Amino acid sequence: MPPRPATERQEPSSGPLRVPRAVLADDRCGSQPATTGAASGSREALRAALDLSCALDPVQLARRARIEPDPWQAGLLRSQDRQILMLCARQSGKSTVAGLLGIHQALYHPPALVLMLAPALRQAQELFRSARGLYGALGETVSAIEEESALRLELVNGSRIVSLPGSEATVRGYGDVAMLIIDEAARVPDELYAAVRPMLAVSGGRLVLLSTPFGKRGFFWREWSEGGPGWARVRVTAGQCPRISPAFLEQERASIGDWWFTQEYGCEFVDRLDSAFATDDVRAALDPTVTPLFA
Ligand SMILES: Nc1ncnc2c1ncn2[C@@H]1O[C@H](COP(=O)(O)OP(=O)(O)O)[C@@H](O)[C@H]1O
Ligand SMILES: [Mg+2]
Repeated sequence: MPPRPATERQEPSSGPLRVPRAVLADDRCGSQPATTGAASGSREALRAALDLSCALDPVQLARRARIEPDPWQAGLLRSQDRQILMLCARQSGKSTVAGLLGIHQALYHPPALVLMLAPALRQAQELFRSARGLYGALGETVSAIEEESALRLELVNGSRIVSLPGSEATVRGYGDVAMLIIDEAARVPDELYAAVRPMLAVSGGRLVLLSTPFGKRGFFWREWSEGGPGWARVRVTAGQCPRISPAFLEQERASIGDWWFTQEYGCEFVDRLDSAFATDDVRAALDPTVTPLFA
């Protein structure tokens, strides 16, 4: 099935878009020295205009964080797809775009719970640090920080961005999720995916899966290859990333070998090195007309 571009517009994301009335009312986000009435009035008007443009166009939010999105990143930022699959090479910019999507949701659709999951604590911290860095680069925003920790950002507008290492125990207890982001999704166990999907059932929240491939197995591979038209799919190889040089890629191929290189930089799902049979051969050999002996 050909990948569907992420730029097609679907249903709107959950919750109404909140434009920046709060900017003018929330004096906690003001860090400028006091100015005369007219000057501060025009400064606030400018800030409100800037916030309005970021609310309406997440690409403007990225630019405000000093990121000029690559075309595929801009497409995803502007898409309103409820389910997104990013099959992207290492260092191509997938965590950056996921972080920006999460921040936009938290700032402009409050009160929103944005959950960021990763297979292990270190990866969860890294994803959160990246999102926190982007939020910091925005400067004064429509909503200031109420509270924060190494894995959590709580905004004055009531939104929360929470990063969690992936285990069923850590994610249970969260409900009404406006956006669920799963980083390194190919390495997250199927049981965890089954446990988190219901969190979106009531809220109608968005689901964003991002990963390099990790063999032909697991929910990320299944959703990518046979998940149907309910997903927007974006595949970005290292060769398509303007920040990764061909010389670096040649060096990497030489040091990690073809098998890893094809996955990590070429974004192809390949069978495990120790598989006795290729997944495609096994699937081709299956006959759907035969009734199993022990069904
Ligand atoms: N559009 C962009 N312009 C400039 N730098 C970018 C852009 N997108 C990502 N980056 C930078 O590239 C590096 C890798 O991005 P990251 O999102 O962590 O990649 P990934 O999660 O795919 O490994 C980071 O330093 C990030 O700031
Ligand atoms: Mg990443």
